[in-house]
Amino acid sequence: MRTLNVLLVDDEEGIRLGIKRVLQKFILEIPEFEEQISFEVEAVDSVSGFLSAIKDKKFDLYVLDYLLKDGNGVDLLKKINSPSPQVTIMISAHSTLSLTIEATKNGAFDFIIKPFGPSEIKAAVKRAVEYFLLLERNENFEREKKKIRFEFISVLAHELKSPINAIESYLNLMVESYLGDKLSEYANIISRSKSRIQDMRKLITDLLDLTRIEAGSRNRVIEEINLKEILSNCVESVNFQAQKRGIIIKSIVDGELLMFADKTDMEILLNNLLTNAVKYNVDNGSVDISIRRDISDSDSEKIFIECSDSGIGIAEEDQKKLFGEFSRVKNDKTRNIAGSGLGLSIVKKVLSYYDGEINLESKVNFGSKFSIVLNEIKGK
Ligand SMILES: Nc1ncnc2c1ncn2[C@@H]1O[C@H](COP(=O)(O)OP(=O)(O)O)[C@@H](O)[C@H]1O
Ligand SMILES: [Mg+2]
Repeated sequence: MRTLNVLLVDDEEGIRLGIKRVLQKFILEIPEFEEQISFEVEAVDSVSGFLSAIKDKKFDLYVLDYLLKDGNGVDLLKKINSPSPQVTIMISAHSTLSLTIEATKNGAFDFIIKPFGPSEIKAAVKRAVEYFLLLERNENFEREKKKIRFEFISVLAHELKSPINAIESYLNLMVESYLGDKLSEYANIISRSKSRIQDMRKLITDLLDLTRIEAGSRNRVIEEINLKEILSNCVESVNFQAQKRGIIIKSIVDGELLMFADKTDMEILLNNLLTNAVKYNVDNGSVDISIRRDISDSDSEKIFIECSDSGIGIAEEDQKKLFGEFSRVKNDKTRNIAGSGLGLSIVKKVLSYYDGEINLESKVNFGSKFSIVLNEIKGK
């Protein structure tokens, strides 16, 4: 049971006592919110009484009379400036359109017209409580969103700061001629600086992908594309890294796989799967990637993509969280592998546009298999 605090302002004693009596016995069930609500009522008779009551207590519902001896309810509404949700019911002797409009503009939620009985009070309070719970739920949701955003920015700031710090210390070594006067002595630290810059560029590109997808501002062009061709370009772009480590990439696509989708989206998916399969592989390992259409149903719009590798694998407890932003497995094997931890979260966001799903099967030291199923966009 939860108790909501009600502040009642009315200059008629009979009304104050009446509403207080009704509400203090009232137990309200709101099944949609799984709440059972009781009420604690404080009653005052004037604007000044109201203002002093709200100084040291937070109220969830206000029941305000329109005409008070030292002012009116609408002026009171204008003075309320609370950061937390609360809902106001106005009481008035008669209702005019202009009063209703003015009160609503200033935040009144509902009106009860004098004279009224217990059932009208209860019905108005029920509506107000439902609205109050809704506001509260939204507020929690907003708070959670802010927290996630804050964490995102903190991690991002950290990720951007560390390469800058590294590059700055390399430059300082050069400024101080730490390794002598010959430029060639600095080849190693120049190359390390360049590699940190590359990591940073990758992070920024991932970040741009992510924000564009999130904001829905990337213009998708849905057209018939040839997935086989796109895959072969993606394989080509990671092959250089793979060959340096003796990793062999095999791709299997039956015929020309034509589908309706955005080309960049498909490149994002395939590139992320392939770069991961190479990055987190072992020397002389292998990567197999296959794309096929649902063969059980020739009319189906489903496309299956599978990418398996013979790499380091992912422990069961790490598998779920990898699809979150900035999420990376931290262990001895991954320590020297650069990455933003954004790739798979981008993949997931792209897939949601295609009603798609991604699944992972993996065993530490044996390898990983990422399976995607997505629906092509027909009729767009
Ligand atoms: N094929 C894979 N094999 C092993 N680990 C993987 C594989 N793909 C992804 N991971 C793990 O998942 C994490 C998140 O991947 P991703 O979102 O692409 O970020 P990044 O590659 O930038 O670190 C990686 O840091 C890595 O720990
Ligand atoms: Mg990645």
